[in-house]
Amino acid sequence: MTDTALMLHWPRGLDATRFLQRYWQKEPLLVRGAFPGFRDVLSRSRLAALASRDDVESRLVSHGLARGVDRYRVAHGPLDRQQLARLDRPDATILVQGVNLHVPGVRPVLDAFGFIPLARRDDLMISDASPGGGVGPHVDSYDVFLLQARGRRLWRIARTFDETLVEGAPLKQLAHFEAEDEFLLEPGDFLYLPPGVAHDGVALDACATWSIGFRAPSAGELLQGWLSFVEDRFDCGDRYADPDLQVQRSGAWLSDQFVQRARGLLGSVAFDEAMFESFLGEYLTEPKPHVRFRAPSRPQSIDAFAARLQRRRIVLAPATAMLYRGRCVYMNGEVRPLPLRAMGSAARLADRRELIPAARIDAAWIEALYDWYCSGYLVLR
Ligand code: SIN
Ligand code: CO
Repeated sequence: MTDTALMLHWPRGLDATRFLQRYWQKEPLLVRGAFPGFRDVLSRSRLAALASRDDVESRLVSHGLARGVDRYRVAHGPLDRQQLARLDRPDATILVQGVNLHVPGVRPVLDAFGFIPLARRDDLMISDASPGGGVGPHVDSYDVFLLQARGRRLWRIARTFDETLVEGAPLKQLAHFEAEDEFLLEPGDFLYLPPGVAHDGVALDACATWSIGFRAPSAGELLQGWLSFVEDRFDCGDRYADPDLQVQRSGAWLSDQFVQRARGLLGSVAFDEAMFESFLGEYLTEPKPHVRFRAPSRPQSIDAFAARLQRRRIVLAPATAMLYRGRCVYMNGEVRPLPLRAMGSAARLADRRELIPAARIDAAWIEALYDWYCSGYLVLR
């Protein structure tokens, strides 16, 4: 993969807008030859090297008949040489999560799906399978584009299916999957699946599949995140007090005074729109647990940094997540308010992940860039 832009070739009559209207979160779609000339440059050995790292999330899934039943085995990474050698035999697959967080060269593929907002993006997972490899029939709660990068894979899908899971299996697999449709994918083809469509992909030859995945937090996940965000910002030390307590006729009555005072204790955390926006920005850019940023060991001074900004490109670290809203920039779970005059540059950096050198740069913007540079969130090239 090169840094050059990759064009998604839609079939006749379809473009990003129509795709969103007709298919997104609604219907599966097969697009043949979406990326003509697409070349998978992430070879098996490079993927294996990623799978052996402890800062990368990976799995090895293999299966085979045991007493007449097809049994699956899962090993979680980091994978050692012996485990990786399993790929030399049939019916095995390694899956590496968050490849985009480590390999900047895969960015053009993600950018080709840039018509889906960043707040909805999750990561790029790459699976590399030997013939017969796959994770078995299952259903995901998220949208996914399954891009065939190398070799051929047969995808079988079903919109209506029996939800019973295989008991005791190490992966959530459907026990009685029956396909309604099947598609044989070749390099450059992709299959879009909305959430809730059962699917089973089996490698026909040694093959690699790139899964461009999306996030859709559940109400429960949001609530959990919101509660801990609020707790961090709210003085939880206040305690119920009633120096003016009066004798009650019935001691068991939960009085108006008690209800109002208890409510008053939480008064300052009444749902606040601006606070919720900050929460979302921080929550959505929070790095995954495996992610580590490499801060410069000997950072240059802010003056030297500012001088270099006039000659060098600013490039976000591969693992950096950046969103903006209003006058706030959210980067890797942190918020940074900026003056309005700096928001144009911030938006460009967030969208393109890089900024070309500029002769005149706003002081507040330089300070923000410098802090992010010191944290390893961006580099100068
Ligand atoms: C795979 O690439 O083997 C699995 C991807 C998926 O089913 O979501
Ligand atoms: Co899936």
